[in-house]
Amino acid sequence: MREKLEQIKVSVEEALKNADAMEALENIRIKFMGKKGELTAVLKGMGKLTPEERPKIGALANEIRQRLEKEIEEKKAAIAAAIEAKKLEEEVIDVTMPGKRNNEGKLHPLTQVMNELKEIFMGMGFSVADGPEVEYDYYNFEALNIPKNHPARDTQDTFYIADNIVLRTQTSGMQVRVMEKTKPPIRIIAPGKVYRSDTQDATHSPVFHQIEGLVVDKNITMADLKGTLEMFVKKLYGEQTRVRFRPHHFPFTEPSAEMDYSCFNCGGKGCSVCKGEGWIEILGCGMVHPKVLANCGIDPEEYTGFAFGIGLERIAMGKYSINDLRLFFENDLRFLEQF
Ligand code: DAH
Repeated sequence: MREKLEQIKVSVEEALKNADAMEALENIRIKFMGKKGELTAVLKGMGKLTPEERPKIGALANEIRQRLEKEIEEKKAAIAAAIEAKKLEEEVIDVTMPGKRNNEGKLHPLTQVMNELKEIFMGMGFSVADGPEVEYDYYNFEALNIPKNHPARDTQDTFYIADNIVLRTQTSGMQVRVMEKTKPPIRIIAPGKVYRSDTQDATHSPVFHQIEGLVVDKNITMADLKGTLEMFVKKLYGEQTRVRFRPHHFPFTEPSAEMDYSCFNCGGKGCSVCKGEGWIEILGCGMVHPKVLANCGIDPEEYTGFAFGIGLERIAMGKYSINDLRLFFENDLRFLEQF
């Protein structure tokens, strides 16, 4: 039996020498120490030994078993370390490599200016109303005191979808939609696209953007209109900016005005930006016509209001010194990337 054990010891050592993978080690363990393993068989046969022999053989068998276990453990650890080292080597990160650039999109310049205007008005307590670009003639014209054959229709060359449906030529129709649904006090802006069948050139486009504004409450006066719009312009162009109102005519306001502001470029002296005028027109406005209030179910004896309409493109052109409106709509990346 001692011989048998010595023999096992030799073959264990031989086997371990050549084992260089986890499976091989596991096979060796099973071969010698598994249920039917060679060493296990010897240990099972210990009962047949004489009392003198038993401790000696037992000690030897234990020594071999411990040795075997220890070596297998050590080899396993070495193999695991080698695998880990190889993995680390393969996964090495070269921190000197240039990074991958994430191409980040940007907001269109018109969107940026629109957001800025919205921020200003929201800061003054206005909320934002949204409405359809395909609009009934009633909202775009009729309810705004622009009946069929009214000359104002000629100044807004209209795309007709059907007899009574148009692509809205102005955001003013939103006044009516909001007043029909909301009881005063009302304080909204309605930004969006509008359409006119103009031939496009540096200052005309068949689609452009307006921001409509509407305030309706008891005791609203022209002073509220002037104060609100002056404050808006100062927030947009700075405290030093001055405004002036010129009488004008819009069918849906009475009285009506256009507002100019002192040129942001020359401060009012006159320069190429303001074409020597010192003033730049920014919006149309007025006190909501009593007929329009009545059309929307609001009693003009009880309530008054003011309204205004701002052209977005003109503000953006001034802000970024852009001299051709078409650039906004051509989506040329070389242009858009500059903002
Ligand atoms: N809708 C007008 C336009 O397109 C602009 C405008 C003028 C809107 C006066 C208003 C207003 O609300 O009161 O020319």
